[in-house]
Amino acid sequence: MEFRHLGRSGLMVSEISYGNWITHGSQVEEDAAHACVRAALDEGITTFDTADVYAGTKAEEVLGRALKGVRRESLEIFTKVYWPTGPGRNDRGLSRKHIMESINGSLRRLGTDYVDLYQAHRFDVETPLEETLRAFDDLVRQGKVLYVGVSEWSADQISQALKIAESMGFDRLVSNQPQYSMLWRVIEAEVVPLSEREGLGQIVWSPIAQGVLTGKYLPGQPPPAGSRATDTTGSRFMDSLMSDEVLRRVQELKPVAADHGLTMAQLAVAWVLQNPNVSSAIVGATRPEQVRDNVKAAGVKLDADTMRKIDEILGPVVERDPAKTVSPASRP
Ligand SMILES: NC(=O)c1ccc[n+]([C@@H]2O[C@H](COP(=O)([O-])OP(=O)(O)OC[C@H]3O[C@@H](n4cnc5c(N)ncnc54)[C@H](OP(=O)(O)O)[C@@H]3O)[C@@H](O)[C@H]2O)c1
Repeated sequence: MEFRHLGRSGLMVSEISYGNWITHGSQVEEDAAHACVRAALDEGITTFDTADVYAGTKAEEVLGRALKGVRRESLEIFTKVYWPTGPGRNDRGLSRKHIMESINGSLRRLGTDYVDLYQAHRFDVETPLEETLRAFDDLVRQGKVLYVGVSEWSADQISQALKIAESMGFDRLVSNQPQYSMLWRVIEAEVVPLSEREGLGQIVWSPIAQGVLTGKYLPGQPPPAGSRATDTTGSRFMDSLMSDEVLRRVQELKPVAADHGLTMAQLAVAWVLQNPNVSSAIVGATRPEQVRDNVKAAGVKLDADTMRKIDEILGPVVERDPAKTVSPASRP
């Protein structure tokens, strides 16, 4: 495993991290979840990403149990707050009340006294930014949270937060967690240049486009049994990735991966890691073999010709519009 700084902070994270959205507490059974976490640890992954909302709070519990007994100092545990975790009007968003309550639930479920990174899972248009940032800062002072970051915020929203933190003396954001893959490059135009200037690192999600970039989904054919596209919850998030045009072009990447002695999953993960503003690529997995496959992307270098070839193959199916970075217009 290779390690990178999380943005300009002193914290080191594994280049490849393991995340448990859709899988733990939902798509996969507890023993498979533990086997994946074990494989991640064996392969040198030290960084684990979850969220209060995943599997209706069950994902944090599964991760907490899977990591039980592992030396806490050898782990970086990341979680998030924003999406609804209960029926009440305050069980969501980034108000001081919900942040303070949600972190306590996360710590209890994860079985830890602190998380290494606490992330605002989206921008909350119904809470003044000062309120959220002061609550985050308080959590840092209380020692419940070591670093603070955001997820899927636009460049403008990150900029506003940095200005407020500067003028109020609050802890600075060190990271953003956006979707990023060969197919989804919307952060490149605005978020990455700002983050480079301001010292935020990207912890990118769905680097394998939820499995699509493994090439296992074939155009015009039903998805393979047991894959995310056959899972009732998981498939809801995959529609835009499953067009025949995307799947056909992805098949054409196979010789590129083979020329480099890489699997398709490794090529996909290696691709996001070529961007120096990426601190870590969070991979998901339903089986330990997938974790062992994906981690081999750490440290892989892709030359300019290969990067160009990938662009030519994917052509118009690559999404680049920065306006696609959006948070809900009102609280969910
Ligand atoms: N901040 C946010 O808003 C946000 C949103 C989404 C995700 N995330 C984070 O990012 C993490 C990763 O997201 P993701 O799970 O969508 O990432 P991903 O790595 O793109 O997709 C993971 C899925 O692809 C399939 N897969 C992975 N490796 C494979 C391999 N080597 N061969 C064949 N299939 C393989 C598996 O599903 P099947 O076996 O079921 O096909 C696996 O569960 C999440 O767990 C979460 O921590 C954050």
